[in-house]
Amino acid sequence: MPAISATAPGKLILFGEHAVVYNHPAIAIPFNGVHAKATVFATPIAPTGRVRIEAQAIGLDQTLDQLAADHPFAIAIHGVMKTLGIHWLPACHIRITSSIPIAAGMGSSAAVSIALSRALATFLGHPLEDSAVNVIAFQVEQQSHGTPSGVDNTVISFGRPVYFVRNQPIEFLMIREPLDLLVADSGIAAATGPMVAGVLQRFQADPETYGTYFDQIANLVKQARTDLESSAGVHLGPLMTENHSLLQKIGVSTPELDRLVEAALDAGALGAKLTGGGGGGNIIALVANNQIEKATQALLAAGAHRTWLLNLPRYKEPAS
Ligand code: MEV
Repeated sequence: MPAISATAPGKLILFGEHAVVYNHPAIAIPFNGVHAKATVFATPIAPTGRVRIEAQAIGLDQTLDQLAADHPFAIAIHGVMKTLGIHWLPACHIRITSSIPIAAGMGSSAAVSIALSRALATFLGHPLEDSAVNVIAFQVEQQSHGTPSGVDNTVISFGRPVYFVRNQPIEFLMIREPLDLLVADSGIAAATGPMVAGVLQRFQADPETYGTYFDQIANLVKQARTDLESSAGVHLGPLMTENHSLLQKIGVSTPELDRLVEAALDAGALGAKLTGGGGGGNIIALVANNQIEKATQALLAAGAHRTWLLNLPRYKEPAS
């Protein structure tokens, strides 16, 4: 039996992170510059039910029954089995690799569960719909991050830009004109869960001020949507930079991220902001085509560990 592989991209939040946890909208896009991959090999001479899981990057090489029940891989595998109504697995070896930086706001955990769920279900002869993969990945996210909005698993499962509101039907976003985005890594890892918990604490201490910040972010997200769908992104840059100011106010930026945002703007970027949970991780900058090289050099000089260029293509509304 041939090995079965599946991949899942990373993701970037263009607007609305954190506020999205409080039922406000966010805009997120898949990021194909990085991806997670899961490969399932049949191991016919191993006893039935022996599932070996190997993820070298995190030093993991164990069988499924050795994993804690609340381990993300165990939740994803049991989620696939439950969805398919399967009570045992044929012996197999699952290898997980990923080029998505961990704890960097790029959806690494969601992408791994999605690649794993897809590869396993296909190996079992029942490829899953995107919506079914999304449900499983959300269960994993809930276990790993406490109160996730679901935006990461949604944009990665469907692999296209979304206008996302928690607990609402998914809305795919049209992108009328292609955009060039530079992504720059601060090199600082910061897990999302504690960042979300910190915002919650500050919100509880001062709901009025934080409520106003979230409303202001929501307003930017709505303007950005209109701009992306109707005006070809011409106002997007300033909206991004405003979103970054509000993320500073809710306490999720850092001096390193601010320095990268400033460097991008000084080099002529149209707008820039941190992306994801903050505390570290990445910034994104919207750049005109002729500013890409200059902005890239400026970001590296300002301490970026690496940069990626994302050419976001046009997206039309899906047929249904
Ligand atoms: C993380 O990618 C985005 C946050 O808004 C958390 C979430 O939506 O679950 C910070």
